[in-house]
Amino acid sequence: EKQGFRHFMLKEIYEQPGVVRTCLEAYFNDDWTASNEQSPIKLDLPTELCADLEHIQILACGTSWHAGLVGKYLLEQLAGITTTVHYASEFRYAPPPLTAHTLTIGVTQSGETADTLAALSMEQTRRLGKSAEFKARLLGITNRPESSLGQLVSHLIDTHAGIEIGVAATKTFSAQLVAFYCLALELAYRRKSLSTKAIEKILDGLRLLPAQIEMVLESQERYIEELAHDFAETQDFIFLGRGINYPIALEGALKLKEISYIHAEGYPAGEMKHGPIALLDAKVPVVAIAMPGSLVYEKVISNAQEAKARDSRLIGVTAANEGEESDVFDQILPVPLVDELLSPIVTVIPLQLLAYHIASRRGLDVDQPRNLAKSVTVE
Ligand code: F6R
Repeated sequence: EKQGFRHFMLKEIYEQPGVVRTCLEAYFNDDWTASNEQSPIKLDLPTELCADLEHIQILACGTSWHAGLVGKYLLEQLAGITTTVHYASEFRYAPPPLTAHTLTIGVTQSGETADTLAALSMEQTRRLGKSAEFKARLLGITNRPESSLGQLVSHLIDTHAGIEIGVAATKTFSAQLVAFYCLALELAYRRKSLSTKAIEKILDGLRLLPAQIEMVLESQERYIEELAHDFAETQDFIFLGRGINYPIALEGALKLKEISYIHAEGYPAGEMKHGPIALLDAKVPVVAIAMPGSLVYEKVISNAQEAKARDSRLIGVTAANEGEESDVFDQILPVPLVDELLSPIVTVIPLQLLAYHIASRRGLDVDQPRNLAKSVTVE
C-alpha cells in the first residue's frame, strides 16, 4: 500500500498536490470570475452561522492547532473578524465568556481527539437554552465526517485528504489550510470585506499551488535527503517565521520533534532577541522562513543575520534568487515565489521533508514514532 515509498509519511507528503487539487475542486466554483453574480465558494453554511460575526474561536490540538493559527491570520486579514486560537485542553477548563456573535470552530483531522471533542461539547452545552443565534454557531473541520466530531456538530468542512496513516500529520494539514482559505474567503465575500477582484486574485493564486508543491517535491527531495546527513548528531533546532509563516515554523519544529526526537522550537522571529537567542551557537542550526515580497521579509532576514552572528548554521526556506538570500543563508531550500498570503502551503513542504529525512537517516520508525498514537482519544 506504500506504493513504492519507504514510509507512509513520505507517500502522504507526495500526495499533497493531489489533495490540494481535490480541496480546491470541492470548495471553489471552477468557472467563477469577478464579473460573476454567484458566490465563488461552494460552502453550504447557513446564514445563522455566518451572519454578524464579531468573534471566532478556534479549538484544536497539535498540528490542527497550527492550522488554526494560519486560519486566524486569514480570518482576521481577509474577513476582518477577530479570531482567537485555543488549545482544546486548556479551553475546556477555562472557557472565555460566550457571546451570541461568536463562532466556535473545532479542528481535528481524526475527528476523535478527546480534548477537542470535550471542548466542543462543552461549548454546545453552554449554548443550550440560549437563543437560536447562539446554537447555530458551531462548525467542525475534519478529515473524517463520519467521526465523533461529525456526530457532534451539524456543520462540517470536509478536508478530503483521504486516510492518513503516518502518525505525523502532513497531507491533512495542507488540506486544513485550504479549508481555512475557503472559509475566510466565504466570510470575506459575504461581508464584502474584499472586492471580487481581490478574491479572484487569491483564487488564481490558489489554483497554482498544486503545481508549485510538485515543483518543490521534485527539486528538493534529493537535496534535503543529502542535507539530512549533516544533522545525525544535532540535538537542538530552532525554526523562525513571522506573520502567516510563524505557525509554519511551529509546525516544522513539531514535525522534527515527533519523528526524529530532536529538540526543536519554533519562534516568531522577532521574539528571538527576548530570550531564545541565548540558546544559539555553532551547535544549533536555525531554519528561517523568508518569503521575498512579503512585508516581513526584510525583518526575517535581519533576525536570521543576528542568528548567524552567533555562529548558527542558517537554513533558509525562501524563493531563491540572486539577492541577499545567498549571502545570508548557508543552505537554501528554495520554494517558488508565491504571494505571502498563500505561502504556508509551499513553505511547509521542505520542512516536512527535512523532518522525514533526518528521522529516516537516524533509522527511526517514522510512521510509528515512540509514545505517539494517531488518534489521542484520552485526555
Ligand atoms: C502532529 C500530530 C498531532 C495531531 C494532534 C491532533 O503531527 O499528528 O499533533 O495533530 O494530536 O490530532 P487531530 O487533528 O486528529 O485532532
